[in-house]
Amino acid sequence: MRENILVLDFGGQYNQLIARRVRECNVYCEVHPYTLSIDDIKKMAPSGIIFTGGPNSVYGEDSPQADLEIYKLGIPVLGICYGAQLMAHQLGGKVATAPVSEYGHTEVTLDGGMGILAGVGLGPKSVTGSDLANTSVFWMSHTDYIQEVPENFKITAHTPVCPVAAMENAEKGFYAFQFHPEVMHSKEGKTVFENFVLGVCGCKGEWKMDSFVESTITSIREKVGDGKVLCALSGGVDSSVAAVLLSKAVGKQLTCVFVDHGLLRKDEGDQVEAIFGPEGAYDLNFIRVNAQQRFYDALKGVTDPESKRKIIGEEFIRVFEEEAKKIGRVDFLVQGTIYPDVIESGLGKSAVIKSHHNVGGLPDFVDFKEIIEPLRMLFKDEVRACGLELGLPEHLVFRQPFPGPGLGIRIIGEVTEEKVKIVQEADAIYRACVADFVAEGKMEEPNQYFAALTNMRSVGVMGDFRTYDYAVALRAVTTSDFMTAEAANLPWELLSKVTTKIINEVQHVNRVIYDLTGKPPGTIEWE
Ligand code: XMP
Repeated sequence: MRENILVLDFGGQYNQLIARRVRECNVYCEVHPYTLSIDDIKKMAPSGIIFTGGPNSVYGEDSPQADLEIYKLGIPVLGICYGAQLMAHQLGGKVATAPVSEYGHTEVTLDGGMGILAGVGLGPKSVTGSDLANTSVFWMSHTDYIQEVPENFKITAHTPVCPVAAMENAEKGFYAFQFHPEVMHSKEGKTVFENFVLGVCGCKGEWKMDSFVESTITSIREKVGDGKVLCALSGGVDSSVAAVLLSKAVGKQLTCVFVDHGLLRKDEGDQVEAIFGPEGAYDLNFIRVNAQQRFYDALKGVTDPESKRKIIGEEFIRVFEEEAKKIGRVDFLVQGTIYPDVIESGLGKSAVIKSHHNVGGLPDFVDFKEIIEPLRMLFKDEVRACGLELGLPEHLVFRQPFPGPGLGIRIIGEVTEEKVKIVQEADAIYRACVADFVAEGKMEEPNQYFAALTNMRSVGVMGDFRTYDYAVALRAVTTSDFMTAEAANLPWELLSKVTTKIINEVQHVNRVIYDLTGKPPGTIEWE
């Protein structure tokens, strides 16, 4: 049985981070709803169990409870925030509403410092800025607190307003933190996880991406048997990694359908085909559907951004449907869903999945037995590591995000074939110039950058002629999560070089502008 840690999800917002921190200790980790049965837990044979935080009060009506049998399994348990309060509550302690809520960076004083807190709070003063040697900064977010610890527990940390910031019954292997060691703001969170996973739980920490790839291939083979598998391949990182993983596992039983909707970046359709098609490195059934005209026809005269998205989504589904019918009965459908796409309900319901191709979802008519989501437990950077492990080219593995509806939402107003060409050319010039500057060490690569075509035409002069042409907008942002973003501070030299090249080389463009708007109030895309 593979060494693993089980995270039981009580609905907290940082649950995915807990799994990530465990995997950073090179130990495999899965997150499951807290309702996972004791039998299933026993089958997984975890070396340790972590209860996550959650929005409830342990004494509230219908508050999620852990199965009391968990405490009898002889497996170490770590409770975090709600998980900590739950442990206290279920084992005979007392939880109440705190007189003062704590939120944010909090100085925690350690009252022990061995075991799970070994090495924490002893570092240089700079960790906390405090004169006290036994303090550390952790992230707090709670209104309830543990007022009394259960019998045989001792308090191992406190804050000025929280008498039990950490408690433990080391003999039984039960540990609880009111704080969130998993978030980045908790300066010594990594040490705490290492202490729990490698120390308390005794894991060896031998899990790496190559073992993930190997074991995933084995389990896919077992599941699929001699069934047929279908994958909608967009050429994006997630679906490409999923497709290659499946192809390694089941070879020609897999068929990948790549719909070229004519809204891809310059030469992208050919690049995807070069990698995955008959001439590529993977021996898989690859179907490229050149549906460009069909999409342009469907988008004719449509200017409203949401309508454009819907049309592209629907058309995609129809094309995919037709191809799937030609292939015949399909047993399994592959989705490149990754962890951030998964909305864990955490409250006993099954997870809700974001539609894979992100242009409106895949058809449910396909007669398949099951959906396979091999990357469901991974973060984007882990998916990238997996892609490299599988031998995918770096330019594909590290490509920036590209929306499913493609250039359809980077052209303001009506989408026409001519406008697609304009934005493709301008975008290609922009990306090539950025690549040069990055290679020359003149700038860092922004997290996302592209050209969009405004719907604005204005008067210009080229040579001795008056022009009345479009303005291209350049966008570049720095962001870590794509939820908020700042306009990137691009070198002036780059902006003027790109501007000149676009004006000189792309027909029907006589102006180039750079978008300085952050998100909010703007969005990253222009649509
Ligand atoms: P916005 O424009 O909302 O975009 O600030 C945030 C991030 O999401 C990407 N984006 C999409 N990605 N399907 C996707 O997979 C879509 O329909 C879609 N729309 C926007 C956008 O490129 C940015 O990275």
